[in-house]
Amino acid sequence: MQTIAQDTGRHQLGFRPLEQEQQIERLAIEGQLPPWLSGSLLRTGPSKWDLGGQRLNHWFDGLAMLHRFSICDGEVSYGNRFLRGKAFRAAEQTGRLGFQEFASDPCRSLFRRLATLFVTPEITDNAAINITRLGEQYMAMTESPMPVTFDPQTLQTLNVEAPRPGTLPTAHPHRDPASGELIGYTTKLGARSKYQLFTQAPGRRPRVLKSIAVQEPAYMHSFALTERYAVLVAGPLVVKPIELALKRGGLIKSFHWKPDRGTQIYVLDRHSGDRIANLETDALFCFHHINAFERDGEIIMDLVGYDDPGVIERFYWDAIDAGSRKGAPPTVRRYRLPLSGGHVTVEQVADCVIEMPRINYARCNGGAYRYAYGIGDGPSSGWESTPIVKLDVERGCQSFSTQSGAVLICSCLTPRRCRSALGHTFLTTSPSASTASSTPMNKAERLRLRAAATALTLLSGAVMMSAGYVGHTECWITAGFITTPGGSLILAAFVLARKGDPDDHTVARTDSHVARRGGSIAATLLSGGVMVLAGYAGSAWGWGLAAPLATVGGLVVGVAFALNRPRARASTQ
Ligand SMILES: [Fe+2]
Repeated sequence: MQTIAQDTGRHQLGFRPLEQEQQIERLAIEGQLPPWLSGSLLRTGPSKWDLGGQRLNHWFDGLAMLHRFSICDGEVSYGNRFLRGKAFRAAEQTGRLGFQEFASDPCRSLFRRLATLFVTPEITDNAAINITRLGEQYMAMTESPMPVTFDPQTLQTLNVEAPRPGTLPTAHPHRDPASGELIGYTTKLGARSKYQLFTQAPGRRPRVLKSIAVQEPAYMHSFALTERYAVLVAGPLVVKPIELALKRGGLIKSFHWKPDRGTQIYVLDRHSGDRIANLETDALFCFHHINAFERDGEIIMDLVGYDDPGVIERFYWDAIDAGSRKGAPPTVRRYRLPLSGGHVTVEQVADCVIEMPRINYARCNGGAYRYAYGIGDGPSSGWESTPIVKLDVERGCQSFSTQSGAVLICSCLTPRRCRSALGHTFLTTSPSASTASSTPMNKAERLRLRAAATALTLLSGAVMMSAGYVGHTECWITAGFITTPGGSLILAAFVLARKGDPDDHTVARTDSHVARRGGSIAATLLSGGVMVLAGYAGSAWGWGLAAPLATVGGLVVGVAFALNRPRARASTQ
């Protein structure tokens, strides 16, 4: 058994370069993993800061490396590969940056820097912030319009995607579990800057729902999504876009802290883009939202907030090397946003330090929740000594010290299906923030979906019976054509039933789950056959025989629905 790095101290792996690409079949484990835990954790993060001819300024700027931890049968395998996009190749060939990063930039002429403002291909694709999934595509993301797709098994870089709208999108889009759509925002920088809320369905181009004109755009890193609303929190760390071309030192150097401007909060309808409310609160800097949900005419929005953006300074290498603790500490804040307008209120939820917060996204995002997990503030010089913190929004925080920890940036994801380096095929059990989000559905909506599924099932049964009737009275070729819409109706019913299932999206996609899905398909086909037989029997032998056959068909399709329903498993709230 091996460890990833043998010679580092406690909790500092994330601040050390890792340039070796490797496959480790079995990592050393302290303790015992629960037997039900299987799946892969994919991460991206900065990994190389010394390019040969240039040392990057800031921890966030490192060349992106993908990591995969695969868990199966109590064992953990590990693999890592650099993300080989344009930024990586440019750095590899020249030993210097080819594109502007968060706090580092290449030496460029003024003309080239001006062009960078408006020519998207000149923007970096060094996707070291987050990973998400769009359909079957796995994408590494940074605050760049061009996500990079990769193979979740081999971590091989596949493609730099076509540019999305805008210049500075969030690397933390939300994901709608029902549609698979990503919901995000971007900031378009230029003579007429704007914030844009957009969605992107699998296999489709992004679709802008709403544009909000802004003179000096704010640096925003993430946003909140409730059942019905998207909430953009634009603090007073703002930029005049022309400065991006004129100023050296990376993107963030052009942003200025203007606390007197306060923080603008835009509440938008997440489906139509309609602006619901414009609100304002005191100056706030935020990297990461925790969760938000609607209650009694207001939005409860929890985030990790700072009184100033000094935390950015803390991750310049000079500050890390000096053990600096610059900037205000993060605090867990609960904002109450009145949807009908009025004053925003804020309270501190807990007195602990937490960052990189993760909730049980599949179950709780956009709805009431209680727990979040993140990294805390260590006793020495900061996040390089990171206890794991469990935040209970009702009772406060609890810290767990970690024996060894790699501090990686922002992201994690479990792929829906993976093959581990140990050779086992297994499916995910624990979807996390970036993948299988689940916007909680209220009871009335679930009932509506189930009623629609029932109606479609009955209609499908009637169509199949009519096929049997036509088969007997006219010809079976015509009957065969009639079964096609019958099959489509039952498939639509299954889709609606799954959407209305509260346990969907937390399902453990195991071999047993696959077997249940296979059983469901077989039962559906059997049911269709029985219904055709019922129609035939009605015509040939009398409707007295058709009725019990139709009942049997109904029972069989009921079994199919039951098998298709995912089994929820124990999980944190
Ligand atoms: Fe982040």
